[in-house]
Amino acid sequence: MSNTKKLYIETYGCQMNVSDSEIVGSIMKDIGYEQGNKAENADVIFINTCSIRDNAEQRVKKRLREIRILKKKNPNLTVGILGCMAERLKEKLMEEQEFVDLIVGPDAYRDLPKLIKTVETGRKAINVLLSEEETYAEIEPVRYGDNGISAYISIMRGCENWCTYCVVPFTRGKERSRSPITIVQEAQDLFNKGYKEVTLLGQNVNSYHWEEKEINFPKLLKMVAEVSPKLRVRFATSHPKDISDELIQAIASTWNICDYIHLPVQSGSTKMLKKMNRKYSREWYMERMIAIKKQIPDCGISTDIIAGFCTETEEDHQDTLSLMKWVEYDYAFMFKYSERPDTIAAKKFDDDIPEEVKSRRLQEIIKLQGELSLKRNQNDIGKTFEVLIEKVSKKSNLELAGRNSQNKMIVFPRKDYEPGDYVMVKVNTCTAATLIGEVVE
Ligand code: SAH
Ligand code: SF4
Ligand code: F3S
Repeated sequence: MSNTKKLYIETYGCQMNVSDSEIVGSIMKDIGYEQGNKAENADVIFINTCSIRDNAEQRVKKRLREIRILKKKNPNLTVGILGCMAERLKEKLMEEQEFVDLIVGPDAYRDLPKLIKTVETGRKAINVLLSEEETYAEIEPVRYGDNGISAYISIMRGCENWCTYCVVPFTRGKERSRSPITIVQEAQDLFNKGYKEVTLLGQNVNSYHWEEKEINFPKLLKMVAEVSPKLRVRFATSHPKDISDELIQAIASTWNICDYIHLPVQSGSTKMLKKMNRKYSREWYMERMIAIKKQIPDCGISTDIIAGFCTETEEDHQDTLSLMKWVEYDYAFMFKYSERPDTIAAKKFDDDIPEEVKSRRLQEIIKLQGELSLKRNQNDIGKTFEVLIEKVSKKSNLELAGRNSQNKMIVFPRKDYEPGDYVMVKVNTCTAATLIGEVVE
């Protein structure tokens, strides 16, 4: 190809953003851009941004200060801000970051070729229109960031749950599901290329539905699982309010749908959950957990927790700790509440928990989770799991690392196995983060 230019994309935020960067990579490839892995020698730099918490935006801003210096050195460089910050701040971001050439929201990536042309004529370009239909269904993502073994497939976009603290409904727009035919096709293509694991992505995958054929999420999961018994299927994220018996049954009854559910609880206090507009109670969550553990006894469970949301009392905080102990999470993502402009919480509630109280509560949550993770891992000692080998271990090239169905990382001696192989591994010991074992024939 003549005239190939180099594109460098840096991605912040969630897996949806990682997946979006792969779609952007594909759109840019069609107009002659190849992926580079360095900002320093790129013709175009895209920063795919996240707005979920203030510190996510601060990280991006810090990086933009460095990119600004690159642009000063090379005025021909094109710099674009994509993703959720682009959507949240729109023109304001252009004013604030005067060196940026282009601002593109999550539903406008198809417009990139046109926007790049505008920039080539010396003008600035912006498209932050949200769409009710865009799912990038037939765009084949450029897989550049993964290990060639497991990949993400975006199955829906947007979110309309309006949790009162959350910016996502503003930055990602209306919820919409992608055609199941294109999803299964993408999984099949990945499998043909040697991938062994796909993760179906959406903000709330269990509200997936495709009306024409009445396909709901459990049905979709099974369709993807049918691609091959050698293709593992995972998904993220599920919302506790609609984790159905049908979904639990689909996981329990299908071998290659992994026994792992990420089920963000946010708080253990019903009062807080109500204020967060999560649409479930502590009791509902516990009942769903019982249903999961009954049908999938060895299910891996992880969660998200927010410490210090508006009006959270010491008692509410204790409710979170006690629920964590009750569930015994394998893993948790834990955050301090960060007020986001324009959300219902920002408009209607006082961000009234002092910073030091938020920090202390978060530390207590992190400490407890450390103990629970260790306990859960110790519970696996002596057990044997099927492991999909993903990589050579970070610590030593004599060791391999992969995950079991429950999503736990297991490290074991290399022998003559390679990434992409399935092996049976017996767990001998562990840390809070990793299981350590050996292959058994
Ligand atoms: N759609 C997913 C989560 C998306 S955001 C779900 O509803 O489960 C990932 C996590 O970020 C959320 O689960 C929540 O724990 C956290 N989060 C979202 N908004 C936040 C805020 N304003 N402050 C702190 N954490 C927040
Ligand atoms: Fe945000 Fe709630 Fe939607 Fe998750 S479900 S993305 S927390 S609004
Ligand atoms: Fe961040 Fe947007 Fe994802 S706000 S968490 S990148 S949906």
